[in-house]
Amino acid sequence: RTFLQILGRVTLATILTTGGLVYYMAWKDRHPGEQLPHDPSKKTIVVLGNGWGATSMLKTIDTEDYNVIVISPRNYWLYTPLLPSVPTGSVDPRSIIQPTRYITRHKKRRVLFYEGEAMAVDPEKKTVTFQDTSPIHGEGGPSTINYDYLVYALGAETQTFGIPGAKENSCFLKELWDAEQLRSKTMDCIESAVFPGQTDSEVDRLLHMIVVGGGPTGVELAGEMHDFVVEDLKKWYPELADRVRITLIEALPNVLPMFSKQLIAYTESTFKQNKIDLLTRTMVQEIKPKSVVVKDPSGNKVEIPFGLLVWAGGNTMRPITKDLMAKMGQHQTNKRGLTVDDHMVLAGSNGTIYSFGDCTATSYAPTAQVAAQQGAYVGRLFNQLAQQARLEAELEELKRSKAELHEIDSVSKKLLKVSKYKPFHYSHQGSLAYIGSDKAIADLPFLNGNISSGGVATFLFWRSAYLSNLFSLRNRSLVMLDWVKVFIFGRDVSRD
Ligand code: FAD
Ligand code: NAI
Repeated sequence: RTFLQILGRVTLATILTTGGLVYYMAWKDRHPGEQLPHDPSKKTIVVLGNGWGATSMLKTIDTEDYNVIVISPRNYWLYTPLLPSVPTGSVDPRSIIQPTRYITRHKKRRVLFYEGEAMAVDPEKKTVTFQDTSPIHGEGGPSTINYDYLVYALGAETQTFGIPGAKENSCFLKELWDAEQLRSKTMDCIESAVFPGQTDSEVDRLLHMIVVGGGPTGVELAGEMHDFVVEDLKKWYPELADRVRITLIEALPNVLPMFSKQLIAYTESTFKQNKIDLLTRTMVQEIKPKSVVVKDPSGNKVEIPFGLLVWAGGNTMRPITKDLMAKMGQHQTNKRGLTVDDHMVLAGSNGTIYSFGDCTATSYAPTAQVAAQQGAYVGRLFNQLAQQARLEAELEELKRSKAELHEIDSVSKKLLKVSKYKPFHYSHQGSLAYIGSDKAIADLPFLNGNISSGGVATFLFWRSAYLSNLFSLRNRSLVMLDWVKVFIFGRDVSRD
């Protein structure tokens, strides 16, 4: 009995301490302290974007040394790895975003955030012109600001290769609003299929969900769609669920070219078991409002009816990036994106523009991992630049005041050390993807090789890795709650 009493007390004390600690952390986050005001004597950094790269840079930079201004059309950071879970309701949209002001409010010096879209960069005059493009935008027109340094981290937009109808007749999966629109359209197709008076072929069309693109975005979405059909639609729409078809169309001979052969085969066999139709070596040529025209492996043109088509065909440069490249002439000629050196300095910018992430063309894949590491690197670089400037000023002062030789020597040595800028080094943490029915795949670096694994255990690893990479305790708690909610109550089938 005494043992049980002690155990009970220890458990209670642990719960109370953990609860208190979590509450204190959340309270501290919600009550940031006073911030230093903008200082006209400091250099101004204008940051374009608040995605993976820019946010990572913001987290790392010491704003005591700079005036920082962030501009982006959305006022939050988005955790893209869980975006494919949003259209089916596996994760709530609000759980995977973090307001940018939450990040900027915790910096030492006040960071200004403007919700707006950068329209043009003038690298000669060192200005950015931006505009509030939201539906409600007061009376202010476009605004132009000066920068000493520009951080250009605008990411990329969805590549459609100019395929007719791709923009008009399909949904994308790039931003949160795409995922929300996708959710609404999916439920619209299903409810429309239930509506009386539909022909059999119309019901089949409405219940045909097509995903174009066998990269990780398309594969993860097809896997999530499968779970939704099997775990939820079967219960709430028993008469229809068996007629729902999911097709993945890919132009290349296989899906997920960035994964190992073994995992590609595992994904394709899982899709087969899950009855996801995989059409490889099939090129989409036109997307009509209700059907897609493809060239099949034998070269024949085939028209396939659909209710919903999601286009996940990859990345391309944003128009503003093309415009910036045009202004920089022979320095910027790469068709994939901006050319930067191994310190993330934009070629031709004389050290005034830093760029990284999906808007750049480097030897790395356009992933969150790369963008986040590059952003953190540039944040550290700015800290180093500020330290160098401080030491230079200190040295000058010491020389001016004819200080002791050993003092000058000590500062000179520090300055020499701090003036060495190491190039960016990428550390690959592995590739992970969810493929449906509680299975995930992982290619993980190990010693000098690679470990490939797929299945339910990898799914648990995938979940814990994605959870730990979320921005805040709030995000982690919300996503965990979403997963528990879906496990107990299933996914919500109401249409937004
Ligand atoms: P982004 O994160 O795209 O940020 C671009 C920023 O620029 C945004 O804040 C945007 O609002 C802003 N912006 C756009 N236009 C303007 C403008 N005119 N003016 C000002 N601001 C502007 N990678 C992984 O490593 N692992 C994954 O599991 C993974 N899953 C993904 C799932 C999906 C569905 C998608 C679409 C991508 C996924 N990625 C993943 C890729 C990853 O999201 C990108 O590589 C990463 O977001 C690139 O970071 P970035 O900072 O370059 O651009
Ligand atoms: P992607 O570029 O990886 O894949 C697009 C696919 O669409 C390609 O395989 C291409 O062959 C196919 N395609 C293009 N046009 C086509 C056509 N007309 N007909 C048929 N198929 C066509 O794009 P995705 O998946 O959006 O990924 C973008 C980046 O984000 C990648 O670097 C990826 O690694 C990263 N990402 C990583 C994830 C992860 O690690 N889990 C998840 C999602 C994205």
